[in-house]
Amino acid sequence: MPIFWRDELSVGDDVIDDDHRNLINIINDYDRALETGSVDHIVGVFDRLKAYTQEHFDREENLQRAIHFDEAKSHKEKHEEMIRRLDDIHRSFLEKDRESVEKLKILLRDWLIQHIIKQDLKMIPYLKGGRG
Ligand SMILES: [Fe+2]
Ligand SMILES: [Fe+2]
Repeated sequence: MPIFWRDELSVGDDVIDDDHRNLINIINDYDRALETGSVDHIVGVFDRLKAYTQEHFDREENLQRAIHFDEAKSHKEKHEEMIRRLDDIHRSFLEKDRESVEKLKILLRDWLIQHIIKQDLKMIPYLKGGRG
């Protein structure tokens, strides 16, 4: 089942909301790639996901500094943990560990949506009144 964007996921910043929408799209592309069973396709989407996740985290962390978000440091650590997990899965991919493909699917759904709901949304009060 694809993930759909919903208004409750909005942090109230257009750039970050667009990033989250794009991430959801890439996750849905990943599911579609799994259905095709093409390894090249799966790896292609994975590479896109990893690059975009890093780019988004950098953007979000810069914004958090600008708006003096109190939890910026622990938030960055959560991002770093996600990047480590993506790196681990990437390694498993290269070792042709088939389970890693499914593991990533679950990780993405759980992590991304939970992270946005529980962590990113905490930025809302800091964002009221503009981007810092
Ligand atoms: Fe975040
Ligand atoms: Fe985010």
